[in-house]
Amino acid sequence: MSKNVVILGAQWGDEGKGKIVDLLTDKANAVVRFQGGHNAGHTLITDGKKTILRLIPSGILHKHIMCYISNGVVISPDALIEEIAELKMHGINVQDRLRISLAAPIILPTHIALDQAREQLLNKAKIGTTGRGIGPAYEDKVARRGLRMGDLLDSNRLKSALQSLTEYHNFLLKNYYQAETVNFEQLLEKLRQQSEILSPMLTDITEQLHKHRLEGDNIIYEGAQGTLLDIDHGTYPFVTSSNTTAGAASSGCGVGPLYLDHVLGIVKDYTSRVGSGPFPTELFDETGIKLAKKGHEFGSNTGRARRCGWLDMVALKHSIAINSISALCLTKLDVLDGLDTVKICTHYQYNNAEFTSVPADCKLYESVTPVFETLPGWSQSTCGVTAADQLPRNALAYIKRIEELAGVPVNIISTGAERKETVILQNPFSSTADSF
Ligand code: IMP
Repeated sequence: MSKNVVILGAQWGDEGKGKIVDLLTDKANAVVRFQGGHNAGHTLITDGKKTILRLIPSGILHKHIMCYISNGVVISPDALIEEIAELKMHGINVQDRLRISLAAPIILPTHIALDQAREQLLNKAKIGTTGRGIGPAYEDKVARRGLRMGDLLDSNRLKSALQSLTEYHNFLLKNYYQAETVNFEQLLEKLRQQSEILSPMLTDITEQLHKHRLEGDNIIYEGAQGTLLDIDHGTYPFVTSSNTTAGAASSGCGVGPLYLDHVLGIVKDYTSRVGSGPFPTELFDETGIKLAKKGHEFGSNTGRARRCGWLDMVALKHSIAINSISALCLTKLDVLDGLDTVKICTHYQYNNAEFTSVPADCKLYESVTPVFETLPGWSQSTCGVTAADQLPRNALAYIKRIEELAGVPVNIISTGAERKETVILQNPFSSTADSF
């Protein structure tokens, strides 16, 4: 029977989803990206070789897998073609195994220009976006004036839709932001050329996914960013412009929620955040710097330094609830090796009152004080450990405490960047314990 597993970030992104999708792909037939765009950066390390994927699902490294980009994703043809070419250089044939939704909105260079001009104008109040045009592209989708990948198939339709959209964008760029405009004719010509490369891969992804489902295939729904960056449920306005939560796997693919069997929440055993916005457990001391250095906390996409702090159970429980997370995968355990103590934030305080939920109001969220529980650390290395009984006692106690507070099991523990550096207590595609 087909099993449909959603894999998403349970914090502010960069939890290490790419490695887990790549790993679990062994037991899947198809992987689909359901939201976001090339603001994501999924780093995969196989046999010491590093691959960074922004748009193409992390299953692409497996030759038996079909990969899909669904209607929920915003696509920059420039970024997509560049990524296809990069993978080709590594000997991976993308064209035969990648299919792209006709209904996916297109990110144009004007979206990128608008994103960057807007951030510049906001100055100190900026969101800290990746500058990839994500927000403006989603805005145009909702405003029903955006272009979709299907428009690439009809040259005349492309021309008229692009003309009115570039006129509108250029008006804003010139008159509101005093920024450079984009040449319509050149852009049209480029899109026409790009359409020749991309057209053979365009299709109805919803139909493809239901075919897989009815044939009994296992499907992974790959999320991007993280739960607290969700446009509705995250730390608004310091969020991305899509729904990053489990419901988006349904709306972003056209696969009804009752067809989804399992939601695997990927959570780092500390917290990081890139860009602006509230982050109650953020560390500004030596430990924060240590975590950032050891965890290589620099954006795989933009190269920006990530802010680091202790694990925040209030944020994680919020994430478990809104995603209906079935089980957790704990990543980067080895980054905490060698610390005398480790801390878990169990609740917040505000005005002497206890807070056990994420406040919807961002200003209030910025003012809460985290309250921590302190646990003993472990000196032994967990790096590369593949079985739970090889983990130090205190590391196991830390994981047990997370499970207790979370109310859901930790089924996978990642102990390094390589596929094999993983403890799999239960694989979401099988009911038994598994090991690689
Ligand atoms: P945007 O998605 O580029 O509009 O950026 C909005 C916010 O989401 C910023 O704080 C970004 O740093 C953050 N963001 C976007 N993509 C990622 C990601 O893949 N990982 C972590 N943060 C992200």
